[in-house]
Amino acid sequence: MGTDSPSPSTAPVALGAKGAVRAVAQHHQAVVGFLLGFLLVLLLYTTVSSQFGSQNAIGVLQSTPAARTGQNAMTPQTSPSPMPNNMAKGDHIKEDNKGQQSDTPNKMEEDHVQHGINGIEKNNQTEAKLDNEKEKNPGEAAGQASVDYASDRIEEELIRQEIHQGGIKNDTNIEQATPRKPICDLSDPRYDVCEISGDARALGANRTVLYVPPASERGADSQEWSIRDQSRKYLEYVGKVTIRSLNASQAAAAPECTSRHAVPAVVFAMNGLTSNPWHDFSDVLIPLFITTRALDGEVQFLVSDLQPWFVDKYRLILRNLSRYDVVDFNQDGGVRCYPHVTVGLRSHRDLGIDPARAPRNYTMLDFRLYVREIYSLPPPDVDVPYKEANRAAAEQQRKPRLMLINRGRTRKFVNFPEIVAAVQNAGFEVVPVEPRRDLSVEEFSRVVDSCDVLMGAHGAGLTNFFFLRSNAVMLQVVPWGHMEHSSMVFYGGPAREMRLRDVEYSIAATESTLYDKYGKDDPVVSDPESIHKQGWQFGMRYYWIEQDIRLNVTKFAPMLHQVLQMLRE
Ligand SMILES: *[C@@H]1O[C@H](CO)[C@@H](O)[C@H](O)[C@H]1NC(C)=O
Ligand SMILES: *[C@@H]1O[C@H](CO)[C@@H](O)[C@H](O)[C@H]1NC(C)=O
Ligand SMILES: *[C@@H]1O[C@H](CO)[C@@H](O)[C@H](O)[C@H]1NC(C)=O
Ligand SMILES: *[C@@H]1O[C@H](CO)[C@@H](O)[C@H](O)[C@H]1NC(C)=O
Ligand SMILES: *[C@@H]1O[C@H](CO)[C@@H](O)[C@H](O)[C@H]1NC(C)=O
Ligand SMILES: *[C@@H]1O[C@H](CO)[C@@H](O)[C@H](O)[C@H]1NC(C)=O
Ligand SMILES: *[C@@H]1O[C@H](CO)[C@@H](O)[C@H](O)[C@H]1NC(C)=O
Repeated sequence: MGTDSPSPSTAPVALGAKGAVRAVAQHHQAVVGFLLGFLLVLLLYTTVSSQFGSQNAIGVLQSTPAARTGQNAMTPQTSPSPMPNNMAKGDHIKEDNKGQQSDTPNKMEEDHVQHGINGIEKNNQTEAKLDNEKEKNPGEAAGQASVDYASDRIEEELIRQEIHQGGIKNDTNIEQATPRKPICDLSDPRYDVCEISGDARALGANRTVLYVPPASERGADSQEWSIRDQSRKYLEYVGKVTIRSLNASQAAAAPECTSRHAVPAVVFAMNGLTSNPWHDFSDVLIPLFITTRALDGEVQFLVSDLQPWFVDKYRLILRNLSRYDVVDFNQDGGVRCYPHVTVGLRSHRDLGIDPARAPRNYTMLDFRLYVREIYSLPPPDVDVPYKEANRAAAEQQRKPRLMLINRGRTRKFVNFPEIVAAVQNAGFEVVPVEPRRDLSVEEFSRVVDSCDVLMGAHGAGLTNFFFLRSNAVMLQVVPWGHMEHSSMVFYGGPAREMRLRDVEYSIAATESTLYDKYGKDDPVVSDPESIHKQGWQFGMRYYWIEQDIRLNVTKFAPMLHQVLQMLRE
């Protein structure tokens, strides 16, 4: 795998972190804090990936390339939920994952969870119910245990190097921040958020952030809030963080800062429904973009329930949103002092941004172009690959390229080879993608960028559309069972906002394996509405989980033709 392979990542990561640390460090204690945070992350990552990678669901797979091939083989189709497990999923090289039964039981649950929640927006009950079903990821506990390995010796050595390189600076400007009462805003239906300006002290091990008012403003009242620090305020697996505004006597006894930092910090959780790429973006990355992009990297992330695979998989995005080291907040025993702390992530809608509420009026188009830039993909004015390649040529020689994603477990194309052939016959070059996990997001993003069309059944694999060029086509195959609305809300709408061309193909009942299984007269086939009315669990069970797709390539051919025409326009 490429140079950006993470496994051997220890070295490159360390270098990057050192640079970042230098930039940040305000004084010795700050350095200690940062390095400690970094070390924890690093140790978590290495330990988890080497020992538990194969059980650690989705995330670990992708981002962990070659070195872990052996383990990959064990976990091949943990294809997390939905898709071919995601972004990092491979392409052309197919991998036979039949007969692998390493799927952890909660994989299916995740898929389940994703669609359950998505399908029934803002319904706390649904979420709570699903919460109970999900099992803890075994990697988590393991990872936390490994933190203890942080050896003092390594830590001291890093600090020594840091000091040697003149990284220590002074932090006078901290005192100048305007003190203000912390404000927790619990009014949004999706998220809770707290903003503390002035003397904010973050105690990671206590999952607590304190506001110490200036002496002149201290009174008898203290206030306390407890919120989930992610964008789904009712999701039970996201733990709570306490925010406390201290009164006079509490302030006098407030814990001393063990490190001081000149930049603001954001406290947020990385667990929850992540590991399904749709949720990675919808629940964390886009909300993080909304909350922090306008700070241009001058912010530090204090991550509660840190997921090493997530940090590794999305390292390019995380390192751009924050030029400082990610802190493993739960494991941080210090008292980190910041001029401003935000607890929680703002989110406007599923996989979306409302420009009117976003800093700098950011849009989803901005987000896609931002992601592309971070992954060093061609700039916005570069046309789709087919047009680019044929611009100069008198005759069109290069065929448009279509990435065909197959899912691993649910909603998979049972006649995949036949579909590949049909796409080729229609005049496309096909890049078939089946579940596998040894490409990094970086590598996979380049493959997606080289395609004019991204095609797949409704599911998280389509989240790869962030890597498409403007005017490329997302061709979504909508399964049987009145799933058009969800398909539009979760993928079609965002695709349009991102200036992609969005095309949906709704399958006929006869193209669903439910037809074979239940027969044409069963309500599952003949009357999906009646099934949905019985409760979300039923729609979920039949249409999201039980169903596979046998595309009728004759019926589908005109759709391919239409897409071809679109690209030629
Ligand atoms: C969601 O939960 C909150 C707090 O428990 C409750 O006030 C609200 O009514 C619930 N909403 C729904 C749709 O169940
Ligand atoms: C720290 O920086 C401030 C202003 O940037 C400066 O006035 C002060 O002398 C510096 N203190 C030290 C110890 O360098
Ligand atoms: C943090 O947790 C420790 C151990 O539970 C406790 O002794 C300490 O009082 C807590 N500090 C604050 C500020 O809550
Ligand atoms: C601050 O709050 C604590 C806990 O509520 C209380 O015991 C204490 O008396 C208060 N101190 C002042 C100065 O009001
Ligand atoms: C983030 O990416 C943008 C665009 O490539 C770049 O200009 C900026 O310097 C990067 N910021 C950080 C903190 O790396
Ligand atoms: C963003 O848009 C809203 C409504 O369209 C507008 O009121 C606001 O001023 C804009 N904000 C910025 C920073 O441009
Ligand atoms: C496939 O679609 C074609 C055209 O709509 C139709 O004539 C044919 O009967 C379908 N095949 C099956 C097996 O349903």
